Amino acid sequence: MKTILILGGTTEARQLAGRLAMRASVTLSLAGRTESPVAQGVPVRVGGFGGADGLASYIRETGTDLLIDATHPYAARISANAAQAARLSRVPILALRRPGWKRVEGDRWIEVDTVGAAVQALGDTPRRVFLALGRQEVAAFEAAAQHHYLIRSVDPIEPKLAVPDADYLLARGPFREPDERALLSEQRIEIVVSKNSGGVATYGKIAAARALGIEVIMVRRPALPEVPSAETVEALGAMVDHFVEPAAERGV
Ligand SMILES: NC(=O)c1ccc[n+]([C@@H]2O[C@H](COP(=O)([O-])OP(=O)(O)OC[C@H]3O[C@@H](n4cnc5c(N)ncnc54)[C@H](OP(=O)(O)O)[C@@H]3O)[C@@H](O)[C@H]2O)c1
Repeated sequence: MKTILILGGTTEARQLAGRLAMRASVTLSLAGRTESPVAQGVPVRVGGFGGADGLASYIRETGTDLLIDATHPYAARISANAAQAARLSRVPILALRRPGWKRVEGDRWIEVDTVGAAVQALGDTPRRVFLALGRQEVAAFEAAAQHHYLIRSVDPIEPKLAVPDADYLLARGPFREPDERALLSEQRIEIVVSKNSGGVATYGKIAAARALGIEVIMVRRPALPEVPSAETVEALGAMVDHFVEPAAERGV
């Protein structure tokens, strides 16, 4: 049986692990950012590897045959490390690259390259802002303390933001559009700050903003290494099928 290491932290990684678990020895790796991650259904290891070299050592020590990068599109460091570790340890790598959302008619997006630029794009006039970002990114908004912030996260934001006016909401997606529309309306949100995560689980707020005519500051995706990839769990699963069971064995 082949040994597969999936770098995860996403819904798709968990789904992929479940799909492959019957035909390969699968381990799912999590960074350990979330205090109570949802059950993954396969063996899990938690915590950083110590850079690309550390990941390459782990691959060698565990006899990993295939590395799969199924991390979040904004987790650029681990994706770069994965590509480098695959080169160093000479194991094949595949990536799940969920496509980003495309702007459609009615969207009022302001696209920026960094979270810092998103802070700037809010402007000087106080506004009611919905931050749907990870807890690592929200601290940057202390630089614009004139705004009211509604901050939604999976784990509590600790320490709280050093701004006079912020509300916190703990929730884990998926988030449906009608609920997002109700939230944005009730909270009188004037602008949303979001990453272009892609997928359906967090698209509700984008559709809701469009329906309500609310602006969205969209932080563009970081550059990721070029490795063989697929856009969906199904497509990547099919690529892995060829790896775990060569054509001859499948009777093709
Ligand atoms: N960034 C987001 O918006 C976002 C959103 C949802 C979920 N996530 C998930 O949260 C995790 C951390 O994201 P990030 O943006 O902080 O990552 P990052 O900046 O790309 O990675 C920072 C460091 O965290 C460790 N790491 C990251 N993902 C790991 C994994 N799956 N298994 C083991 N170690 C990992 C690595 O440490 P070492 O160098 O020591 O190996 C890496 O160098 C990822 O698993 C990602 O899929 C991220």
